[in-house]
Amino acid sequence: MDLNSDYAGRYHLLTYGCQMNVRDSEIIAGILEGMGYVITSNLKEADLVVFNTCSVRHSAENKVYGKLGEVGLLKRHNPDLLIAVGGCMAQLENVRTRLKKQKVDIVFGTHNLHELPHLINRAKTIAGPVVQVYDREGDIVEHLPSQRDGSLSAFVNIMYGCNNFCSYCIVPFTRGRERSRMPGDIISEIQKLAEQGFKEVTLLGQNVNSYGRGLEERCDFADLLNLVNQIEGIQRIRFTTSHPRDITDKLIDAVAAHSKVCEHIHVAMQSGSNHILERMNRGYTREHYLERTQRIRKMVPGASITTDIIVGFPGESESDFQDTMDMVNKVRFDAAFTFMYSVRTGTAAATLDNQIPLDIRRERLIRLNNLQYSIAREINESLEGTVQEVLVEGLSKTDKEKLTSRTRTNRIVIFSGPKDLIGRLISVRITEAKTFSLFGKIVEL
Ligand code: SAH
Ligand code: SF4
Ligand code: F3S
Repeated sequence: MDLNSDYAGRYHLLTYGCQMNVRDSEIIAGILEGMGYVITSNLKEADLVVFNTCSVRHSAENKVYGKLGEVGLLKRHNPDLLIAVGGCMAQLENVRTRLKKQKVDIVFGTHNLHELPHLINRAKTIAGPVVQVYDREGDIVEHLPSQRDGSLSAFVNIMYGCNNFCSYCIVPFTRGRERSRMPGDIISEIQKLAEQGFKEVTLLGQNVNSYGRGLEERCDFADLLNLVNQIEGIQRIRFTTSHPRDITDKLIDAVAAHSKVCEHIHVAMQSGSNHILERMNRGYTREHYLERTQRIRKMVPGASITTDIIVGFPGESESDFQDTMDMVNKVRFDAAFTFMYSVRTGTAAATLDNQIPLDIRRERLIRLNNLQYSIAREINESLEGTVQEVLVEGLSKTDKEKLTSRTRTNRIVIFSGPKDLIGRLISVRITEAKTFSLFGKIVEL
């Protein structure tokens, strides 16, 4: 029993989806702790369960519905249990209608995390769900409390929302229009992280290359990288994600020039077929994509290029799919997140004809993955014998006797070594390569 008079109860936080949600969950945790809630990893002892949800694919929503059913049953033994649902699902009207039918007490959106204390207090006093979701984004709210995961590597939002309206994608509907944080706010946040001992930051935005549009102060993404590179104490800078249409020479030069900016660019290709790219409203061709990635390889030696690919988009023929396979062979991605197209109500692609049957989507995904895994393995094997600079992150999840670390190109390297190396940059020699990770040995200095 906690005797602190401010104690409000125990909360359990479930996070689904992308890094934006991981970061939002840190803010939700900060807000709840400010209210006197204490975290618990045990769902059954929670007084408040918060779902931070994702809508990007059908499967992401389904996971949430399944878990909501399970958590709803806990109310039988604990009638005072509060269930709150926020995140991208809450932004969608059709989903909200379904949520209201479940035993949910609070529904909040992606634009009003800061209202949580008010919503929770209201839910304690009234029967029936408290629903507060804004369709439109307001001004950026700075200086919210936050309870960061970890103490080494931090996510830092540089912008919110998306204006691209790729025809398959729900994100512009759940996250609102694109807006950039002011450079000064970003820099002071990272300076504070550095003072707290963080070594690495990942700058987050749906399309970081368009950072700075609409700001009074002139500062584009390459300028921002330059500013962050100067912050003492920060040793590695990462960013995600880049849109192929907006990768400028200036950005590639900035990655090459700034020592702390890691040689890793995540640039979603989505498809290798011009016909499909057009139907996706992506705004580039396969030729453009190839030219940009070749330029990255030329200007940033050893760079890792990773991507997202969707198979089975409406109208994708076998020959369109072969164009994607061909691009995977040409670009030779270091890693790829691959997805079956999932129809999202409200997006332009949902109304396109020629939706692809599930068995064909599934079979294309398997063929694509097989190709990509073999390429990733070949690239990893080519690293055997090389010496890599790694940031030691902690104990390996699969083998607690070993340490886990990451190369500048975002590859996981497992090795044996003393725990006091955690948080340090060291050199390891790669001794063995697998498809998704590497094994290494410390290089004696
Ligand atoms: N802003 C990021 C992507 C965020 S969503 C970018 O443009 O790079 C992450 C990935 O999910 C997308 O790149 C896409 O590959 C996939 N995705 C988005 N909507 C999808 C859908 N309806 N079906 C399947 N995959 C989807
Ligand atoms: Fe979605 Fe396209 Fe925006 Fe990425 S750029 S979040 S895929 S609409
Ligand atoms: Fe992220 Fe999922 Fe929302 S991918 S932006 S949490 S729909």
